[in-house]
Amino acid sequence: MLGCSLWGSEPPTPTGERRGAGWLELLLLLGFSASVLPQQPVGCPRPCECSEAVRTVKCVNKNLTEVPEDLPHYVRSLFLTGNQISNLSSAAFPSGVLTELSNLNLSGNHLAWVEAHALAGLPSLKQLDLSDNSLRWVSPEAFPSSGSSLEELNLRNSLKNSSFVSMLAESFQQGTFPNLTRLDLSSNNLLYLPLGMFSNVSSLQHLDLHNNSLVGLHDVSFRNLPQLQSFNLSNNSLKCLKNSTLLQFRSLSQLISLDLSNNTWVCDCNIEDLVNWLKESRQVEAKWALKCAYPEGMENISLMSINFSGLSCSELTDSQAQLQTSYVFLGIVLALIGAIFLLVLYLNRKGIKKWMYNIRDACRDHMEGYHYRYEINADPRLTNLGSNSDV
Ligand SMILES: *[C@@H]1O[C@H](CO)[C@@H](O)[C@H](O)[C@H]1NC(C)=O
Ligand SMILES: *[C@@H]1O[C@H](CO)[C@@H](O)[C@H](O)[C@H]1NC(C)=O
Ligand SMILES: *[C@@H]1O[C@H](CO)[C@@H](O)[C@H](O)[C@H]1NC(C)=O
Ligand SMILES: *[C@@H]1O[C@H](CO)[C@@H](O)[C@H](O)[C@H]1NC(C)=O
Ligand SMILES: *[C@@H]1O[C@H](CO)[C@@H](O)[C@H](O)[C@H]1NC(C)=O
Ligand SMILES: *[C@@H]1O[C@H](CO)[C@@H](O)[C@H](O)[C@H]1NC(C)=O
Ligand SMILES: *[C@@H]1O[C@H](CO)[C@@H](O)[C@H](O)[C@H]1NC(C)=O
Ligand SMILES: *[C@@H]1O[C@H](CO)[C@@H](O)[C@H](O)[C@H]1NC(C)=O
Ligand SMILES: *[C@@H]1O[C@H](CO)[C@@H](O)[C@H](O)[C@H]1NC(C)=O
Ligand SMILES: *[C@@H]1O[C@H](CO)[C@@H](O)[C@H](O)[C@H]1NC(C)=O
Ligand SMILES: *[C@@H]1O[C@H](CO)[C@@H](O)[C@H](O)[C@H]1NC(C)=O
Ligand SMILES: *[C@@H]1O[C@H](CO)[C@@H](O)[C@H](O)[C@H]1NC(C)=O
Repeated sequence: MLGCSLWGSEPPTPTGERRGAGWLELLLLLGFSASVLPQQPVGCPRPCECSEAVRTVKCVNKNLTEVPEDLPHYVRSLFLTGNQISNLSSAAFPSGVLTELSNLNLSGNHLAWVEAHALAGLPSLKQLDLSDNSLRWVSPEAFPSSGSSLEELNLRNSLKNSSFVSMLAESFQQGTFPNLTRLDLSSNNLLYLPLGMFSNVSSLQHLDLHNNSLVGLHDVSFRNLPQLQSFNLSNNSLKCLKNSTLLQFRSLSQLISLDLSNNTWVCDCNIEDLVNWLKESRQVEAKWALKCAYPEGMENISLMSINFSGLSCSELTDSQAQLQTSYVFLGIVLALIGAIFLLVLYLNRKGIKKWMYNIRDACRDHMEGYHYRYEINADPRLTNLGSNSDV
């Protein structure tokens, strides 16, 4: 009988008390299964399909609100997709029971809460699929504190709020996933990546961030990913990549597939470093397919074919440009003052004319006074007196 081999292969339970309880459970279960569901293999929870041969249990699209109890101990692959398990509590996977479970699929469950120790009781877990959920809270202690055995984590379209990525980043940084090779964070509407997010997941080989809203990668460090082979950044809102990021990509010796397609590249002078790097890099997929999205007149032009002499990019550094701007400003101010001065002059032209005449008249009177005195001095009859006295 299948049921016998099933129960026979179960490892002995550690305490005598548990063993007694186990026998009682076994008898009850056997009786229950035999009377109610004779066609089901022994030890398979009611809504599920179990196959011991391939060590797989499927409880798919059954409106389950909790992880079924009494899952067979042999299970290695557990599919709980398309249910309503919104809360994964610490009681979901009691420790020491599903010691062989390596592939857990909780995709499409409206999963919101993953509490402390919820997944700590699964020492062999290698693949965890949490895609298509709406996570609000994943406890930093959800996984074993000594480090999770997880190798593949799928979080595609699963974060309710893109700011929850910082919560995950914390787990990554603490070194919770020393063996993680594949991480899927696509379709989460991410606007930014927490700075040190990838500083302590150094075994990562495949990173998928496609279909998010990343605008730039400034300051995000990819340095500590020596094993990274593929990195998908397609379908984001990247505008430009700076030297600091490009240098990091260049230093990742295993990286052979970097997908930068379908981003909103802004093809102004700032993109020159990216284009130069692109031309010599062998890491980028389909580089000729990278197209400018802005500015006007540059749409759909391939980044690889931009002519920078045509863009009239000057060699000005920022401080020089600032200095020039301040000179231009000073010039404008001086011109304005000059214009106002001329306007005032023009508006007062009558007054000024009158004033000028007044001055001229005053001058003339004055000059006539001088002239008179000069004439007196120049009169020979009068000067003779003086000259005589000199002689
Ligand atoms: C799950 O619930 C929905 C709506 O409540 C219902 O239509 C559907 O039949 C249920 N499916 C199962 C397998 O019970
Ligand atoms: C999740 O389930 C646990 C245990 O069943 C319970 O204590 C906790 O309050 C639940 N959390 C939420 C948010 O429902
Ligand atoms: C999990 O289940 C979903 C839905 O059935 C499926 O698309 C996905 O490939 C599964 N993931 C794994 C790791 O098996
Ligand atoms: C990580 O993988 C190594 C080698 O396969 C293994 O020895 C180690 O136990 C794993 N770490 C964890 C936390 O499972
Ligand atoms: C996301 O969560 C943060 C903090 O909990 C909150 O301030 C923000 O409004 C949320 N955003 C959305 C789109 O719900
Ligand atoms: C990185 O992870 C290791 C365990 O893998 C941990 O011991 C170490 O403290 C972590 N580093 C930081 C800075 O948290
Ligand atoms: C892209 O992501 C959005 C959520 O940000 C999601 O609604 C949409 O289905 C995703 N598209 C694809 C093709 O996965
Ligand atoms: C790319 O993004 C657009 C707009 O957000 C979305 O409609 C489309 O499904 C995405 N494509 C892929 C392959 O993710
Ligand atoms: C990146 O993701 C998109 C959308 O799923 C896919 O079409 C593309 O092939 C991926 N790129 C690589 C290099 O795998
Ligand atoms: C970026 O690096 C290139 C060569 O490594 C250099 O020519 C260029 O001036 C750098 N750009 C900036 C903005 O520092
Ligand atoms: C590229 O992005 C546009 C708009 O964001 C979207 O409609 C299209 O499906 C995307 N293409 C691919 C291959 O992702
Ligand atoms: C750019 O290409 C897209 C898709 O091929 C097209 O819809 C759009 O009209 C093009 N824009 C310009 C300015 O040529």
